[in-house]
Amino acid sequence: MTPVRTPRRRRPFALATVGALALAAAFAAAHADTPAPAPASAPASEPKGPPPLPAPLTVSSRPDAGPGERLFLEKCAMCHGPNGMGTGLLARRSDEPLLEKRTDLTADFVIQAARMGIGNMPAIPRGEASDAQLAAIAHYLAHDAAPTSRKARR
Ligand code: HEC
Repeated sequence: MTPVRTPRRRRPFALATVGALALAAAFAAAHADTPAPAPASAPASEPKGPPPLPAPLTVSSRPDAGPGERLFLEKCAMCHGPNGMGTGLLARRSDEPLLEKRTDLTADFVIQAARMGIGNMPAIPRGEASDAQLAAIAHYLAHDAAPTSRKARR
């Protein structure tokens, strides 16, 4: 025997729908002539939450970057830019959290830190930055002469 579907079973839902529509209509009618609230225009001096985040450092934001700087932007700036987590963590233990603004970095230290990893910074493998590329970055950050080997220019 196949059960017969009675239309009755659906009635409560139909009633609920009609009820909801009626309520919505009543609500709309009640508010029909209420003018829309004026847009809240706070005075310009009033602070509206936190200041905007600094723009991320990218290669395109510095079209004139030299080779070491360019590599730094490509391989390190996502963490060592103004808003990066490297900068955030270095702010806890360094007076100058931005690597690019540091004057105490030596190329050897930068290479060592990047290859071995340091604290919360993961090691940067050669597949990500070759020795020549890392040397160029390190000399850029150390503000000393860029390496002159032919490999470094690749
Ligand atoms: C995944 C994010 C990340 C990337 C990518 C990254 N770093 Fe770091 N770096 C960090 C963090 C986080 C620290 C802070 C480590 C700590 O103190 O725990 C740090 C610290 C350092 C330090 C140590 C500074 C000091 O005074 O001790 C050097 C140097 C450094 N990074 C160089 C680089 C270079 C060069 C690159 C690019 C080849 C690079 N980092 C890419 C996250 C990163």
